[in-house]
Amino acid sequence: MPAAGKLSRMHVLLYQPEIPPNTGNIIRLCANTGAALHLIGPLGFELDDARLRRAGLDYHETATLRRHASLDDCLVALGHPRLLAFSSRGATRFDRHAYAAGDALLFGPESRGLPDEVLARVPAALQLRLPMRAGQRSLNLSNAVAVAVFEAWRQQGFAGAADDT
Ligand SMILES: C[S@@+](CC[C@H](N)C(=O)[O-])C[C@H]1O[C@@H](n2cnc3c(N)ncnc32)[C@H](O)[C@@H]1O
Repeated sequence: MPAAGKLSRMHVLLYQPEIPPNTGNIIRLCANTGAALHLIGPLGFELDDARLRRAGLDYHETATLRRHASLDDCLVALGHPRLLAFSSRGATRFDRHAYAAGDALLFGPESRGLPDEVLARVPAALQLRLPMRAGQRSLNLSNAVAVAVFEAWRQQGFAGAADDT
């Protein structure tokens, strides 16, 4: 059994995030679900302990937060995990993917999404799409991360959740 509150080492990677409240929401989401959060720079904002406290986040929530200078640095630090790229243009519907412990879920910046050269590093089968109604461009970043992380966690039987009835 995974340790209480852990999502079996699921990793959320935010590529060059731009909007502080989105990252704040995702910090709390990761604390709630046990995922580890990785911020890949350069960030579009300053992030320090004082700012995190002002955003209402405490040490418990930010304990697993890590920063990386580049995507490659992050992947090396994680031991080259399976990389899943979330994109509104992804070839595979996100709920048809079988998530595994150790997967790295990669999300793009709010204004431009994941660059083509980053997407090109990920096989089409691992480029995942959240369905939307016709004519819609994209979901809010923190909403997209929440939906994806909960699907991954659901597939793991919400392992480690306090209330799993
Ligand atoms: C606000 S969106 C980026 C919008 C950007 N203008 C674009 O066209 O890609 C920020 C990130 O949320 C995730 N995202 C948003 N909507 C998504 C969807 N329908 N399917 C998969 N990922 C999505 C992606 O990782 C995306 O890079």
